[in-house]
Amino acid sequence: MDSYTNGVKGIILAGGTGTRLYPITRAVSKQLLPIYDKPMIFYPLSTLMLSGLREILLITTPHDQDAFFRLLGDGTQFGIRITYVVQDQPNGLAEALILGEKFLDGEKCALILGDNLFYGPGLGTHLQENTDVNGALIFAYQVSDPSAYGVVEFDDTGAVISIEEKPAVPKSSYAVPGIYFYDERASEFAHHLKPSARDELEITALNNAYLERGELRVEVLSRATTWLDTGTYESLYEAGGLIRTLQHRSGMRIGDVEQIARDQSWI
Ligand code: DAU
Repeated sequence: MDSYTNGVKGIILAGGTGTRLYPITRAVSKQLLPIYDKPMIFYPLSTLMLSGLREILLITTPHDQDAFFRLLGDGTQFGIRITYVVQDQPNGLAEALILGEKFLDGEKCALILGDNLFYGPGLGTHLQENTDVNGALIFAYQVSDPSAYGVVEFDDTGAVISIEEKPAVPKSSYAVPGIYFYDERASEFAHHLKPSARDELEITALNNAYLERGELRVEVLSRATTWLDTGTYESLYEAGGLIRTLQHRSGMRIGDVEQIARDQSWI
């Protein structure tokens, strides 16, 4: 450990083909598209920074890595350290833990998807208190159409029964947002996963591996928290509008990584 780590490292997964956003993403990475006044990647990066994480691995496609480096460099200007790794093919979200194994070097991690936006009062403090997990911690968030996501099934006592990836008939309206906290065993468990029917190493399969051991905690995210993913034209447009409205209304900036670094006294 050095001054950048506190035993927990961050991984941002920002690869993928972005096919649902073609033709926009034919030449530009989805995670570099603007969400109002900032590139998309700033939002998940800011969530990790608000969680207190300064040692970050950024996973991109081979051809987009240069563009991300031009934007973020080694992170010094934001008081963090960014390391880069490429994912040759979109083999699934859980591959991030395999690609990140060397970087993690046996430490715990937070994995966040490069197209997921979180916003809410006290979210940073709340996440900060939860980064040091034993087992895994994931979240559940009520949405109107859960079938596009990982979906959590709870029993009457609130205990988790199952997590299903994009079920045709969802067993609840609780989707799993794209931020996950894992202990030191995540890479090891990821190595044992089998590809799904769509030939991907599913993050839901990794979460189920922890669930089967009785070591998965699922926390329902408060309604005060906003969670958006930005994989479609509609959601991209909505996210930009929302950030604009919130910033205008409050006068505060959302996802401003430089300001967060200053607030944390990292620069
Ligand atoms: O947004 C939360 C959802 O993210 C979860 O509820 C689901 O359980 C999880 O599987 C995932 O579902 P998506 O359908 O949104 O995943 P998608 O394939 O769109 O990938 C999410 C992001 O990760 C996207 O920005 C592209 C990137 N990606 C994806 C894959 C499959 C990679 O960088 N590499 C990959 O191999």
